[in-house]
Amino acid sequence: MNQQQRQEIYETAKNWIYEAGSFIREHMDEPLDIETKSNPNDLVTVLDKQTEKFFVDHIHQYYPEHHIIGEEGYGDALTEVDGTIWIIDPIDGTMNFVHQKRTFAISIGILHNGVGEIGFIYDVMGDILYHVKRGEGAFKNNTKLAPLDKEKKLEEAIVGMNHFWLCENKLVDYPVMQKFVRKVRGTRSHGSASLELAYVAEGIQDAYLALSLSPWDVAAGIILNEEVGGIAGDIDGNPWNPLERSSSLVANPAIHRPIIDFIKEGRK
Ligand code: IPD
Ligand code: CA
Ligand code: CA
Repeated sequence: MNQQQRQEIYETAKNWIYEAGSFIREHMDEPLDIETKSNPNDLVTVLDKQTEKFFVDHIHQYYPEHHIIGEEGYGDALTEVDGTIWIIDPIDGTMNFVHQKRTFAISIGILHNGVGEIGFIYDVMGDILYHVKRGEGAFKNNTKLAPLDKEKKLEEAIVGMNHFWLCENKLVDYPVMQKFVRKVRGTRSHGSASLELAYVAEGIQDAYLALSLSPWDVAAGIILNEEVGGIAGDIDGNPWNPLERSSSLVANPAIHRPIIDFIKEGRK
C-alpha cells in the first residue's frame, strides 16, 4: 500500500466512522434488542449489528477486492493475511454501551499483507478519535501522540486489566497476579479493550493485559501503539496474530519484558 492509497482509504474510513458514530448516538435511546452470545455477559445489540453491516456494505461497494474480519459475522472467514483486510469491532465495550451509555468505541484496523497500515478507535460519546497511519504519526483528534516514555518502571506503571486475572484462570496462577497488582502503581478496568489500548498509546496507562481477546478487539490499538513505540503480542511475548484469538499484552516498551518475566513465574 503506497502513501496515496493509504491516505485515500484513511479519509474514506474516517468519514464512515463519524457517520456511524452519529447514527449510534441518535439511536441509542431506542429499544436495543439486547441478545447474549457465548455467555450471559456477552452482549450484542441491534446497533452492534447495524454498525458492522454499515461498514461491510460500504467496503463491498467502494473496495470490493478488500477482505473483512468483523465481530458480528458480516465479514469473511479468512485463513491468510494477504491483501487488504479491515478488522472491525462495531461497538467495543457493548456492556458499557448497554449499561452505562459511555466508554465504548468503534474500532477498525486496516492491514495490508499482514502489516498494520491504518487504525481508528472512536470514543463515540466522548467524540474522541484516536487515529494512525503507519509511519505518519498517531493522533488523538488533532493532537499528535508522543513516543512512549522509555524510562517507565513497573513500580510507576498503571496497568489496564480486569478482575478475572485475580480469579482462578487457565493461564496464570492467581497468587502471582495478586503479587503483580501490588507491585505496580495502580490498575484500571475500563471495559473496552480498544480504549484501553488507546490509553496505552496516549501514555495515560502503561500496559493492558487480557486473558483472551479477538483480532477485532485489538487490531486498531496495536497499530496505534506500534506507531508510538508500544509493544504488542501475547502474554508470552509472541507477536500478535491477526487471525487468532489469544491472550494479549500491549505495553510501554520499558515494561513489556518485565511484565512477561513477572507473569512467567505463575504461567501454567
Ligand atoms: C469486549 C470488551 C471488553 C473485554 C472483552 C471484549 P465487546 O468487547 O473489549 O473490555 O474485556 O473481552 O470481548 O464484546 O464489548 O466488543
Ligand atoms: Ca470487542
Ligand atoms: Ca463488539
